[in-house]
Amino acid sequence: MSADKPSNNGEQKTTRNSLWGGRFQEPTDAFVERFTASVNFDQRLYRHDIQGSIAHATMLSAVGVLKASEAEQIIAGLEAISDDITAGNFDWSVAREDVHMNIEAALTEKIGSVGKKLHTGRSRNDQVATDIRLYLRDAIDAILQQLSRLQTGLIDLADQHAEVIMPGFTHLQTAQPVTFGHHLLAWNEMLARDYTRLLDCQERMNQSPLGAAALAGTSYPIDRALTAAALGFSQPTENSLDSVSDRDFAIEFASCASMIMMHLSRFSEELVLWTSSQFDFIDLPDRFCTGSSIMPQKKNPDVPELVRGKMGRVQGHLVNLLTLMKSQPLAYNKDNQEDKEPLFDSIDTVLDCLTAYADMVPAITPKADNMRAAAGQGFSTATDLADYLVRQGVAFRDSHEIVGNAVAQCIAQQCDLSDLSLADLQAFSPLINDDVFAVLTLEGSVASRDHFGGTAPSQVKQAAARAKQLIAARQQ
Ligand code: ARG
Repeated sequence: MSADKPSNNGEQKTTRNSLWGGRFQEPTDAFVERFTASVNFDQRLYRHDIQGSIAHATMLSAVGVLKASEAEQIIAGLEAISDDITAGNFDWSVAREDVHMNIEAALTEKIGSVGKKLHTGRSRNDQVATDIRLYLRDAIDAILQQLSRLQTGLIDLADQHAEVIMPGFTHLQTAQPVTFGHHLLAWNEMLARDYTRLLDCQERMNQSPLGAAALAGTSYPIDRALTAAALGFSQPTENSLDSVSDRDFAIEFASCASMIMMHLSRFSEELVLWTSSQFDFIDLPDRFCTGSSIMPQKKNPDVPELVRGKMGRVQGHLVNLLTLMKSQPLAYNKDNQEDKEPLFDSIDTVLDCLTAYADMVPAITPKADNMRAAAGQGFSTATDLADYLVRQGVAFRDSHEIVGNAVAQCIAQQCDLSDLSLADLQAFSPLINDDVFAVLTLEGSVASRDHFGGTAPSQVKQAAARAKQLIAARQQ
């Protein structure tokens, strides 16, 4: 076993069970103490833990379980501990297992034995269920903020470049010309759905488990509505057994986070392709790229690549959490302590990736000439020619065949459809007139897709305006 791994070989036994010591005949094994502790990763819940404890103490005094003076001392002590932790003046102890017992023990040290009354009518089971919900609710707010910032950058960029023409792809083969603004707004639509999905998740999880105690509720005359309201929850959870065991809100969040990362990975893939010298559609500023230690010419799109790579861990956390909950009997099981690391890492990762993208996207510079030149290759207006023939009275399947023949000839002659003369085109169909060249141009092609959701520059401008309005409505 490596030196930094916990082991019980020849170690001193330590005691931590002062919080439940009465029943125990021997101290906790030193290795088991470290193995079962969560304080190294759950200490980040401290603010929310103290917020929950203050609401609990306030309620206990309101219902007469604590004297007002006792609740006041407890609350002042908790606030002082919060300040100590924030200032870095707090010694976290593995012997005290987790964030809850560290704070509770510190409270008693600080204010004396009245601190021991805080845990009346609650358990760490409803306490931790409350803490994670409070923590996640705030984390979702922070993620929503970065999503809005990224969307705003995308929409502005789309608006500025509503007329820039690029090839649209299916199967990554040139399909039809589209506008760059239209392409950017496709990404915005994905993020807009991610936003509402997260809001929905946040609303569903926003119920207070506090008062469920260990699993069955408590015999004290508690007021669960009071603590729920004090903590900004919409209502108390309905069932005490479900309250302490449910982690489906964490799974739902991990699913929303995975969806965001999946979208960002698609986005990233395109940015990586577009910055390659083969595509050369955009430029990313140097500050978002890195060089190579060996190849002097390299400028690598590391930020998009890393974001694409980080999709893996967030998706992994989703599977982790689903598997953690699979087959767990009611009610609380210690397994649930394993919810935190995947949840925290999902939050951190999605927040970092969105922040990086929100910073980077407004700095994308499209290379309009290169995009336009690429759109001019690959017969991207072939469908426009087929549609022209349909307007001349040809059935679509027949026009598809006619244009296919014309494309085959262009491939043989190594030219584009728009390079063929009118006489060349009329050899394929006598119904073609000289007005055909208007539809064979890239500008004519995109301008003709002039309907709601279409790629015409005027539609992109309107779509960008609508998207901006939706974002503005969020901030009200
Ligand atoms: N650290 C624990 C967790 O994260 C807190 C709840 C412990 N409850 C218990 N009955 N052991 O789940």
